[in-house]
Amino acid sequence: MPLPQMIGENMRQQILRFLAASILTCLATTGVTRAEMPPANIYKANCDLCHGADGSGDTGPGKAFHAKDLRSDEVRNQSDAALTEVITKGRGKMPAFANKIKPADIQKLVAYIRSLPVKK
Ligand code: HEC
Repeated sequence: MPLPQMIGENMRQQILRFLAASILTCLATTGVTRAEMPPANIYKANCDLCHGADGSGDTGPGKAFHAKDLRSDEVRNQSDAALTEVITKGRGKMPAFANKIKPADIQKLVAYIRSLPVKK
């Protein structure tokens, strides 16, 4: 008996369902990879524009909006909670990122900001 006839409608549906599940699993895994983007990449994608790669705020938009130097004592002396709040809710010309960056990633960004080398 040729193979196609052995595979009944039921079997075919199971195979299709299995394929669909595999594709979904694949997509979900890709999502996890993206969620675990290193903070440097998150910073580059969302913050670089105004704050500059080095955190100085020495960029066109950064100067126009008066973005603060993220390496300054004024910023570094603030608590993690305070910095988290500014990034989450925004302040003045600083946009809110609550809808764009997950809380866990915002926490990583706070640590990342603190790790930017201090200017000499
Ligand atoms: C559109 C330009 C812009 C972008 C994009 C931007 N910022 Fe800002 N940011 C500002 C400005 C302007 C301020 C100063 C806000 C104020 O206090 O008036 C600021 C302030 C801050 C402060 C607080 C400094 C302080 O003294 O309290 C932190 C921390 C900060 N930004 C981090 C980030 C992070 C992290 C990102 C990316 C997720 C980001 N910013 C993206 C413009 C920007």
